[in-house]
Amino acid sequence: MKIHVKAFGKLSDGRQADIIVIENDNKSICKLTNYGGIVTSWTVPDKHGNMVDIVLGWDNIEKYIEDSSYLGAIIGRYGNRIANALFSLDGKEYKLAANQAPNHLHGGNIGFNKVLWDYSLIDQPNEKGVIFRYLSRDMEEGYPGNLNVEVTYRLTNHNELIIDYKAATDKKTHVNLTNHAYFNLNGCADDVLKHVLKIYADHYTPSDKTLIPTGEIAPVKGTNLDFSEKKAIGERIKKMDIGGYDHNFVLNKQPGAFELIAEVYEPRTGLKMDVFTTEPGVQLYTAIHFDGSMTGKGSVKYKQYYGYCLETQHFPDSPNKPHFPSTIVNPWETYSQKTVYKVYAQ
Ligand code: BGC
Repeated sequence: MKIHVKAFGKLSDGRQADIIVIENDNKSICKLTNYGGIVTSWTVPDKHGNMVDIVLGWDNIEKYIEDSSYLGAIIGRYGNRIANALFSLDGKEYKLAANQAPNHLHGGNIGFNKVLWDYSLIDQPNEKGVIFRYLSRDMEEGYPGNLNVEVTYRLTNHNELIIDYKAATDKKTHVNLTNHAYFNLNGCADDVLKHVLKIYADHYTPSDKTLIPTGEIAPVKGTNLDFSEKKAIGERIKKMDIGGYDHNFVLNKQPGAFELIAEVYEPRTGLKMDVFTTEPGVQLYTAIHFDGSMTGKGSVKYKQYYGYCLETQHFPDSPNKPHFPSTIVNPWETYSQKTVYKVYAQ
């Protein structure tokens, strides 16, 4: 295994962002930048022996700075939506940015996807990775508590990208971290409608028109959201009234248990992705809003459905839904979650 660092580019204030390049013994290469803790590319060998980049992204830092689609990034403090950009903790109201009016989305105006993280490398003979660190100050983006966040990415020789999320606060707060990589197991130059998906979820959280959960936990059976048996993503996507999938699935496993929660398979490359997590939910997002106006890596125009996200997470709007698994973190606790994406040819 190998790891090295190169310069990526400068932010408007002159600070430099780097790219960390990790290569395993199978020649799988994962590239990450400390700007936004973003996975910029991940190449894996497919069943024909071709190297396939399975992560959508940009060629340069300027595009990531402009990006409003969260490509590859760490999302925080709160991945997904908080209704009316408002929550209360111990009788005190906290007003957040309504950056997707009327709601708060993915941490606000300057979420964890838009900050420069400190980092150190993990450079052991059989373990290569990077630890990103960021101190989110008390009341940053309206959230209480100084929050020390640590996100560790490791690439293994089994083509696993392991993401460990840790956070500690000095005041009671809400935390819901995730990664927003858009994957495409056919090399990112085509849509993902032929990908075959299974999600280990018999339920989901129905939502209103602004994608805030109604609070109900409903069965997927009999709906177009039933991926409990393998189905092509494209099979029923056109029947979705919002134009595709942008839904939170309630995973069958016990919250906290680390288990396989989703499988994706692309017949043309034979690439298979297994997703494991400790989280209770996963947001399936199928790049509904892509319309060909964004030009990604290799001059590819990203059109609708060119990627899928499986954002492992707590449920949307948990701060306002006391019956959902709690996203509260107290000063005496350590927030800790783990997600693994494993990709191999079949
Ligand atoms: C959200 C979508 C949103 C997208 C932005 C997803 O996580 O659920 O509604 O449009 O992020 O890239």
